[in-house]
Amino acid sequence: MTLKFSTPRGTSDILPDAIPLWEGVESQARKVLKSYGYREIRTPVYEETALFKRSLGQTSDIVNKQLLELATSKDEGYALRPEGTASVVRSYLENSFDKKEPLSKFFYIGPMFRGERPQKGRLRQFHQIGVEAIGPNSISPYLDVEIIALAMHLLKDLGIKSPKLKINSLGSKENKDKIATELREHLGIHKKDLCEDCQDRFERNIFRVLDCKKESCRRIVASVVKALPLSDGPSRLHFEYVQRLLKDLGIEYEIAPYLVRGLDYYTYTVFEITAEGLGSQDAVGAGGRYADLVEDLGGNPKANIAGIGFALGIERILLAARPTQDTCAAIDAYMVVMESDSDYQREAFKIVDRLRKAGFNVDMAYTDDRSVKSQFSRANKLNARFTLILGEEELRNKCIAVKDMANRTQENVALGDVLEYLNKRLN
Ligand code: HAM
Repeated sequence: MTLKFSTPRGTSDILPDAIPLWEGVESQARKVLKSYGYREIRTPVYEETALFKRSLGQTSDIVNKQLLELATSKDEGYALRPEGTASVVRSYLENSFDKKEPLSKFFYIGPMFRGERPQKGRLRQFHQIGVEAIGPNSISPYLDVEIIALAMHLLKDLGIKSPKLKINSLGSKENKDKIATELREHLGIHKKDLCEDCQDRFERNIFRVLDCKKESCRRIVASVVKALPLSDGPSRLHFEYVQRLLKDLGIEYEIAPYLVRGLDYYTYTVFEITAEGLGSQDAVGAGGRYADLVEDLGGNPKANIAGIGFALGIERILLAARPTQDTCAAIDAYMVVMESDSDYQREAFKIVDRLRKAGFNVDMAYTDDRSVKSQFSRANKLNARFTLILGEEELRNKCIAVKDMANRTQENVALGDVLEYLNKRLN
């Protein structure tokens, strides 16, 4: 048989056997996120294209090459969200959170979409656990370190053995502009020796030249830039304070002088966390501060609203942590009908319905060719704690045989008592 349809390139089905892993990641993450005071927010998976252009930057690769835009008949364009920060800031402003609380701490878990060239750990639909802390006058190094500590805590809890934290600072917006001018001066002399992409980056977004992977560009960068110059006092002090607090919390880090990140909205602290065993796509999470994004998206300039956040890639976490796959979560009971007569099946169906409504996880076979043997093997496959057996004798005596699949014992239970019996044995 030739398959007619398959998943789009760079996407994948998450099949039922893998769902317990995903549920485990999500519920563990929710627990940790709540313990740091973050509350869940759910935004649409698509937004106005202009929102992404405005926030991530016209010159960023995500906007230039990877936005998956929706074809609509109207003039206004929409695109699938490539990340969560822009949507959360849009929602923060639309719902006037700045007037409701001094600091809003959000988290989100969901799919993101980027039209990238797929490879190991790089997908077109992938999932992030993200966090954003936004509020007026909130540029505090304590918040930077809370965010970084939370990211490290989450990754360790999700099974990443030795996550490596790299940090850098771009300083304030003014400082960032100054760095861009200096970089242009220093790198300008070598412009013709940079790779074709970097010559383009030199014009569009000079910062991206710093994290070019090509050896020849790296050599040029290393010869002219030792560290990003933090020339204004507050930017430098902020970064020093962040490092001091990281040390206080015992969080190991490395300063990565060329870490600039691919999104335009970052200012001050930026960071990336890598894990082993992922090949070239080894960032399991990344984030940073955005001091001007809220204002750029319509926030009151006088309110001085800043934000900081990160996102972790769930697929990369699962690749790096390699948790063992629980093939099938156990069900409470499986109903085995001894006779193929429809009266038995109808009676069994009613019992199953009653048990499900009482909250038990129960299943039974509906196909015509169900032999007793195949029903038992299905019960085993589903890892049923009990099988409930209904045959002629049981029905005559208004009872059901309950078999404990773990110790192979069996006893008859009156039909009216099954619920209570299971309640007692399972709780
Ligand atoms: P990002 O670095 O673009 O940042 O993505 C964060 C994480 O998402 C990456 O470290 C990676 O684990 C995962 N990821 C990104 N792209 C892909 C892909 N194509 N396939 C699989 N996994 C991927 C952001 O998205 C920012 N919004 C983070 C942030 C929040 N900054 C401030 N607040």
